[in-house]
Amino acid sequence: MAKARSLFVCTECGAQAPRWMGQCPGCHAWNSLAEEVRGTGKTRRGVDGPERAGPRAEPVRLSVVEGLGRRRWTTGIDDLDFVLGGGVVPGSLVLLGGAPGIGKSTLLLQVSARLAGAGHTVLYVSGEESAYQVKLRAERLEEPTEDLLMVAETSTEEILAIVEAAAPDILVVDSIQTLYTERLDGAPGGVGQVREVASMLQRAAKSREMATFIVGHVTKGGGIAGPRTLEHIVDVVLQFEASHGLEHRFVRGTKNRFGATDEIAVFRMGSTGLRPVENPSALFLEGRQARASGSTVAAAVEGSRPVLVEVQALTNPTVYGSPQRVSTGFDGRRTALLLAVLERRAGIPTGDLDVFLNVVGGLRLTEPAADLAVIAALASAVRDRAADPAAVFVGEVGLGGEIRPVGQLDRRLDEAGRLGFERAYVAGSGAGAGSDDVEVVDVRDLGQLVDAAFR
Ligand code: TYD
Ligand code: MG
Repeated sequence: MAKARSLFVCTECGAQAPRWMGQCPGCHAWNSLAEEVRGTGKTRRGVDGPERAGPRAEPVRLSVVEGLGRRRWTTGIDDLDFVLGGGVVPGSLVLLGGAPGIGKSTLLLQVSARLAGAGHTVLYVSGEESAYQVKLRAERLEEPTEDLLMVAETSTEEILAIVEAAAPDILVVDSIQTLYTERLDGAPGGVGQVREVASMLQRAAKSREMATFIVGHVTKGGGIAGPRTLEHIVDVVLQFEASHGLEHRFVRGTKNRFGATDEIAVFRMGSTGLRPVENPSALFLEGRQARASGSTVAAAVEGSRPVLVEVQALTNPTVYGSPQRVSTGFDGRRTALLLAVLERRAGIPTGDLDVFLNVVGGLRLTEPAADLAVIAALASAVRDRAADPAAVFVGEVGLGGEIRPVGQLDRRLDEAGRLGFERAYVAGSGAGAGSDDVEVVDVRDLGQLVDAAFR
């Protein structure tokens, strides 16, 4: 046998180096190189070669290739179909990433059972649990399991042989970190192994038109062993996130070759598994004290879905050292910027105040349209006066203190009306749009906002 070669692979970006280096030559991260020992020869194509759809692909005319209207299979969970862009695409490779214990196995078992119940051949491969454990869980979930195929296996070669025999439409692999391939010598879960196993699954998925779900545990650093490489290999990346201390879970698409990536699905973990939350806005507004200072409601759009969410701000005189700035669910630098705008353009200084900002319910607000709700919450907290309790706030705030209109206003206003809000503070050109239930208050700069919302 040829002598094994050593190779060092960056755990951050997957870049390779022939020897150990303190700094990755690819992404310049420090201490990120890990040794991967591997055999020579036969591994080269799988590891270094381009990803291939099948052993030998014949060129085809693009006109005969199925486009966006191609087949999709519904997962049996509408919200998840949304996040996937309308269902799962045959032949696609979907990575479901999340912290241990968040519910990845539960969700995929539910999905597997439903797909099997709908007549698909589904093979659920568990590298973590025995068939007996999976059965117990399925019974607890009250999902149909008659037709679901299950195998406890960690050898990728074995799994592919079973796939060959069982010819499933859908393969679920739980988890990629437990799988290994005999082609490489590294331990399961290592960057080289994870990448090679994923490439093997990808080739099988493409050549068999088999939809494949891969579970990936996210490590403390937030990545899945060799995160970037894995993300390049798969077609769809779904992130499973939890809000601290709550039983709610969010599934968010962060990459999707077959659809938009900004959809979210909200689930509640109960005694019989994950159940979709029908009305996320009501969830995010639960327990709101509308007449307290520092509380406002943002009308956000997550993907195609409008959600109303409470933004809270609290300020206190700084007693020691430099003022604290703590921002949860909203970008901290954006908060700092809005504080600066508030001081310069509305004459509301915060330089000697600790400022805490929180988006309730664990949601992250990433749209600029949330600016207005945030700055209104901050102003309300500093002034210690409640903002208009029956209003939502929608707009992007500029450095000049001007408030800019944002897109999809109708959908935001409809959602506000549906939940019983009476007014929406919106910039200029937004006025005129609007639903019958919600009065639109045109605010073009911070001065107007403060006059109108803090009467
Ligand atoms: P699990 O799907 O095993 O998480 P992961 O695969 O991401 O590691 O979910 C584990 C948690 O979910 C565990 O703490 C138990 C809880 N759970 C419920 O609350 N209800 C249920 O019906 C099930 C199956 C699990
Ligand atoms: Mg699990």
